[in-house]
Amino acid sequence: MLKENLHQILFLCFAIGLPLWAMENNSFEQRGVHACSGECYEAWQQETGGVMEVAIAKAEAKAAASPEELGAAAYAGCIACHGAQGEGGIGPKLAGQSADDIYGKLLQYKNGETLGPQSALMWSQSAMLGDDDMKNIAAFVETLP
Ligand code: HEC
Repeated sequence: MLKENLHQILFLCFAIGLPLWAMENNSFEQRGVHACSGECYEAWQQETGGVMEVAIAKAEAKAAASPEELGAAAYAGCIACHGAQGEGGIGPKLAGQSADDIYGKLLQYKNGETLGPQSALMWSQSAMLGDDDMKNIAAFVETLP
């Protein structure tokens, strides 16, 4: 009697357990790829794929631009006082100075140091620059004739 019951119980375990296991396994695999399809998948792709593509494109464009090119763009804010060719004006002439000199002076201004009588003007200017900006600008200024 007991033996027969045991068989029945075992059979039930397989009959119910196997399909459940198969379903669970199946949905697990699906989850690994993507959790939905159709419209939902398109939305997911737009959200993540789209954003990722833009981010990658931006990173590649930035990596492709040389420090001089990035510096030239950042130098736009300096033209009013130092001239488009670094020839000077309100501020001193920058053309002809080495990248090390320019970077060093910018760093001094950023640290609030006084170089000349009008350093305060450059304190506010350098405050807006990150370390990369200063290095790029310095690389660009060195290329000026
Ligand atoms: C509002 C005008 C103005 C702007 C804008 C300006 N500067 Fe200046 N800059 C000056 C003046 C004035 C000095 C001289 C400061 C002093 O007396 O120490 C100076 C000095 C400097 C010096 C030191 C030059 C030397 O040989 O002593 C550097 C380098 C410099 N600026 C870079 C920049 C860069 C890079 C930018 C743009 C991010 C910039 N400046 C924007 C006015 C300006």
